[in-house]
Amino acid sequence: MDYSAIILAAGDGKRMKSEKPKVMCEVLGEPMIGWVLDSVRDAGIPDERVGVIVGSGAKTVQEYIANKGTYRTFMQEERKGTGHAVMQAEEMLRDGGNVLILCGDAPFADSDTIIAALNEHTHNGNDVTVVSAELEDPAGYGRIIRGEDGAFRAITEAKDCTMPELQIQEINSGVYWFRADALAKALPKLGADNAAGEYYLTDTVALICEGGGKAGIYKAEDPDIVLGANNRAELLSLNITAKMAVIGKLLAEGVEFVSTDGIIIGKDVEIGADTKILPGTIIRGKTVIGTGCTIGPNTLIENCRIGSGVILNSVQAYDSRVCDRVKAGPFVQLRPGTILHDGVKIGDFVEIKNSEIGMNTAVAHLTYVGDSDVGKGVNFGCGCVTANYDGINKYRTKIGDHAFIGCNTNLIAPVEIGENAATAAGSTITKPVPPNSLAVERAQTKIIDNWDKNFLRKKKA
Ligand code: UD1
Ligand code: CA
Repeated sequence: MDYSAIILAAGDGKRMKSEKPKVMCEVLGEPMIGWVLDSVRDAGIPDERVGVIVGSGAKTVQEYIANKGTYRTFMQEERKGTGHAVMQAEEMLRDGGNVLILCGDAPFADSDTIIAALNEHTHNGNDVTVVSAELEDPAGYGRIIRGEDGAFRAITEAKDCTMPELQIQEINSGVYWFRADALAKALPKLGADNAAGEYYLTDTVALICEGGGKAGIYKAEDPDIVLGANNRAELLSLNITAKMAVIGKLLAEGVEFVSTDGIIIGKDVEIGADTKILPGTIIRGKTVIGTGCTIGPNTLIENCRIGSGVILNSVQAYDSRVCDRVKAGPFVQLRPGTILHDGVKIGDFVEIKNSEIGMNTAVAHLTYVGDSDVGKGVNFGCGCVTANYDGINKYRTKIGDHAFIGCNTNLIAPVEIGENAATAAGSTITKPVPPNSLAVERAQTKIIDNWDKNFLRKKKA
């Protein structure tokens, strides 16, 4: 049996008051459409069988999804409703099988629910199976309408509901499994005679029932999976829900939080047991952190691999690798391409970029290391700078094991410091320094005897 998916993502962000298309609004740092694409992939539907309906801000959405996988996209030039959106991908229905439809603005539809709903769908031989949920506050959602026998008959949009229908708390999540042929047959029959003047996808349920087809419901166990965001307040509430869900999962895995203040952790982040996350810490992207670390306070980590026993205090780290027992901070930036090997110490006001720093090396204060290969056991004094850029090109600096870089050394790349070599404080090094040698690059000190430090003031008087 063939499975495919269509994701509706053409709507604008009118109620978000945003220049961005709505589905690009972020929950825990990931656009909502990204969450939906991940769930569909986790449910086992291959990317090339997923069609995304784009329209408002199509270019932004297309760029983002092209980065994630090889998805098909369909253009909906005019937004005439969710049914009209699906019509744009009609060719996907020709292959038969079952098609999953989801909304790009409801990020919490998870793969377990998608699979459980499919099982229900195929087991009961349904033409359509709608994922529903029971909500305390169903305002704004389409309501599930059942006949006197309790059988599912239709979905009525909130705008079109009668007063008694508005009391119904079972709502349409916007996630559906359709038999492709049943959907293809219902779509051309849709009309736009409703409060919004739109072609509602939800009307296909009644059409299928009237045509003698079978409509079923899969009621989600967790009502949160249906939550969507149409405005900023709802987006904030999705972020709060998602934040606590991620933290809840990590707590169960042995991660320590003494407070959740200012902590935002992306859904794909992995953290080992006994690692403590302190307030003001944001961890996002594909980040993996080992066990027994202390991360924060006030730390931002994006797409990094962090080992175990690491301490990061007020660190910003991007696309970097940090090995075991590294200690960094406060006020450190690790820019993309940084590798810190075991036991490295990075102190205050240090920036490392695109550099490999060997085991147990110390860069303790006020230093910039860029485009460098640094050995193990090296010591940088305070205020060292690798001058890696001549205004046109970038060059590398190489520093051998156990070298000693004196305070305020400038290393003008390309340059190499040999093993066990040293540079004198204040030197500007432009030539290779051989192993076991000392490079001194400064003027001789000139001494003026009997200097009266007040002589200028006296001269004026
Ligand atoms: C829709 C459902 C409602 C359900 C709710 C769940 C319909 C008519 N209503 O309402 O029953 O309870 O989702 O969240 O389907 N879109 C397009 N093209 C369009 C219009 C919308 O691609 O012409 C996309 C939007 O980008 C969005 C999704 O479809 O991702 C849903 O549209 P939206 O306008 O948000 O529908 P709701 O009013 O939330
Ligand atoms: Ca919506």
